[in-house]
Amino acid sequence: MPYRPAPRPSWADVTPRAAWLSRRTLLAGAAGVALAGPAAAKLAAQPSRYSTDAEPNTWDEITGYNNFYEFGTDKSDPRRYAGALTTDPWAVKIDGMVDRPGSYDLADLTKGVTLEERIYRFRCVEAWGMVIPWIGFELATLLNRVGVRPGAKYVAFETLVRPEEMRGQQRPILDWPYREGLRLDEAMHPLTILATGLYGEEMPNQNGAPIRLVVPWKYGFKSIKSIVRISLTDTQPQTTWNMMQPREYGFYSNVNPEVDHPRWSQATERRIGAGVFGGREPTLMFNGYADQVAGLYAGMDLAKNY
Ligand code: MTE
Repeated sequence: MPYRPAPRPSWADVTPRAAWLSRRTLLAGAAGVALAGPAAAKLAAQPSRYSTDAEPNTWDEITGYNNFYEFGTDKSDPRRYAGALTTDPWAVKIDGMVDRPGSYDLADLTKGVTLEERIYRFRCVEAWGMVIPWIGFELATLLNRVGVRPGAKYVAFETLVRPEEMRGQQRPILDWPYREGLRLDEAMHPLTILATGLYGEEMPNQNGAPIRLVVPWKYGFKSIKSIVRISLTDTQPQTTWNMMQPREYGFYSNVNPEVDHPRWSQATERRIGAGVFGGREPTLMFNGYADQVAGLYAGMDLAKNY
């Protein structure tokens, strides 16, 4: 493990501690690890060979500067308001072209799964980036378990709609629910994970508790939070930002320094936490994961398929 984090905040301001502990025990149990006493405060996870060795951002940066429009459009809104979301119990509906469709409890989704700690570069479309030590497991593991039917070509995802707890949903900021999608081969790629925590802790609400997608070679908006539905389809699903601004946000949204956003350059990015005056770094093709994922797009014109 290349690093250990700085002191963490109290969980009391995010989730009532009792609820947090009870679900953690459940998750840890589901992962096949017996935990007792204070050890129960950590998600047991293996380090992943897919991790970057870049220095991670701090807990405070990762949980205090977020995009989660269900709680408002300001970067500080999610930390302020996401505590209102109840994440236990939580079920994910899996439907469409699968052998075993159904409503799966969170514990079922992680049953028998080895959680891995993966330190990924995470880059938002507004040209800022962080490095985050996620805890999660491969989406492919889940898709293989539910059985993808022949003919399925895409995976569609949806976030919860619960305006009573998600104050941003009381206004039509976006066409709720937040929706995202991947091509099946992207979804099956080992870099694509469902994350349930970060820094060894259960996922903070503002980062997409209790389960969210992480696709490290794409702009951050593809990494949909607080997922309640996963559907296998044979047609390209509608996605929130593409529906809203098709010229600015394509279906693929691969990090690409050569294709600018119509309103700003993508050639460099600001590394959050790198200081007020500097910290701009060149953006890497596929966010630095070109060796692993460029092959998925062989022969495609990435300026057209942005
Ligand atoms: N998922 C939902 N449901 N709603 C959102 O507003 N924002 C996206 C993505 N997932 C968003 C979402 C965007 S634009 C980014 S950059 C990342 O979440 C931010 O993830 P982070 O706050 O964990 O860094």
